[in-house]
Amino acid sequence: MAEEVAKLTLGDKTLDIPVIIGSEGERGLDIKALRAETGLITLDNGFVNTGSCTSAITFLNGEKGILRYRGYPIEQIAEKSSFMETSYLLNNGKLPNNAEYEEFYKKVSSYRELPEGVLNIIKQFPNDAHPMGVVGAATSSLSAFYQSYLNAPLTSDQREEAICQLLAQVKTIAAAFYRQTQGKAPIASNPELGYTKDFLNMMFGEEKEISDEVANALDVLFILHADHEQNCSASTVRVIGSSQANVFASIAGGIDALWGQLHGGANQRVLEMLEEIDKAGGDYKKFISKAKDKEDPFRLMGFGHRVYKNFDPRATIIKQQCDIILNKLNVTDPLLDIARGLEEEARSDEYFVKRNLYPNVDFYSGIIYKALGIPTNMFTVLFVIGRMPGWLAQWKEMREDVTAKIARPRQIYVGERERNYVSLKDRK
Ligand code: SDX
Repeated sequence: MAEEVAKLTLGDKTLDIPVIIGSEGERGLDIKALRAETGLITLDNGFVNTGSCTSAITFLNGEKGILRYRGYPIEQIAEKSSFMETSYLLNNGKLPNNAEYEEFYKKVSSYRELPEGVLNIIKQFPNDAHPMGVVGAATSSLSAFYQSYLNAPLTSDQREEAICQLLAQVKTIAAAFYRQTQGKAPIASNPELGYTKDFLNMMFGEEKEISDEVANALDVLFILHADHEQNCSASTVRVIGSSQANVFASIAGGIDALWGQLHGGANQRVLEMLEEIDKAGGDYKKFISKAKDKEDPFRLMGFGHRVYKNFDPRATIIKQQCDIILNKLNVTDPLLDIARGLEEEARSDEYFVKRNLYPNVDFYSGIIYKALGIPTNMFTVLFVIGRMPGWLAQWKEMREDVTAKIARPRQIYVGERERNYVSLKDRK
């Protein structure tokens, strides 16, 4: 890291703060000595200006709309790679050769089934349970059936095994609960179909022939969701993992964080919003006004981003894919026209332009999921499947970092000053 120093002066004290410079020229103040030297902490609501770690997995530049996985531009990965190859890349830092890929996919495929106990846990959920709650609980329950992973720290081989296991079992959990809600028995995994086609077959098996086109479309969406540096859910995975809780607990925490409508849950909310606009006669301009009204809790779901202050490059690709996939499937969807109208209206509205609010990864993805026959309440579960390799790569990087400390932020206390206990009889 290059030697550059910032100076913090407070009263008669001046502290030299090293500037850490990343491989893409990003600069940060390394304040690890701040409290010891000055007694001060920083306060940063939502960690808007705070880096939690250094990482070599994903680079994004929000101003320029750049996203790269291990240095490879997302546009190239989406066009040329596969979700399983991308999963290998994120977790191993390089594209696999044939032998490496075969070994990796063979290991993922070896986890074709779930322990009977996990299937029984899934069966205890009512069919109207939100699938995100089921997937999170079932993922956490894996710790009861793979207890060798409870003893921290894991060996490198154990980490690799856990990564392949979770990549496989998350899709089995998702498909098993979906089948249960349809009153149908689970369909066994058939790895020969390839990861994504196998997932769709486990979901819809006998209902419809899964075409390569449909499977490829979903594979691209999984790639686009695979990692996104220190987002809310990835940070949650790191925080839980930093206590040396087991990998299942860490990943289950990421699933629960993703559920929120401000994060991965937005993809379901976008489709519900588009359906609401459609039902209200399609007047999206009225909803633009609601989104701008500070008195109205309505937000334009799928718009805005903490980091992207330009187009989310994933949204650009997904928007392009919408036309291609709907044409291939010979599907027309009025919601796509409403989405396009909303985007056009918002992008020319001063409120959105001034705040750099662009469509994000969730704005168009639901249109495609719907065309693929995925039920709306499963959209965020598909985000879980797509994001699994990224969460695992972040968890692995943190567990391999010998300097990693348990996450324990400080606070500024604003409560009552010291006061003495008053017995009940003396209270007013
Ligand atoms: C994901 O971080 C990641 O990388 C996440 C993700 C990933 O891959 O992991 O990219 C996936 O979570 C995408 C985001 C999905 N969420 C949504 O689509 C929900 C709608 N978006 C917003 O709630 C919001 O834009 C956030 C939560 C995404 C970002 O919130 P920030 O960064 O805290 O921004 P903010 O709330 O401070 O907004 C700044 C201004 C505010 O207005 P002012 O106070 O300046 O007047 O923009 C306004 C906000 O009110 N604003 C919106 C808006 N988003 C922000 N106004 C209307 N509609 C919106 N969607």
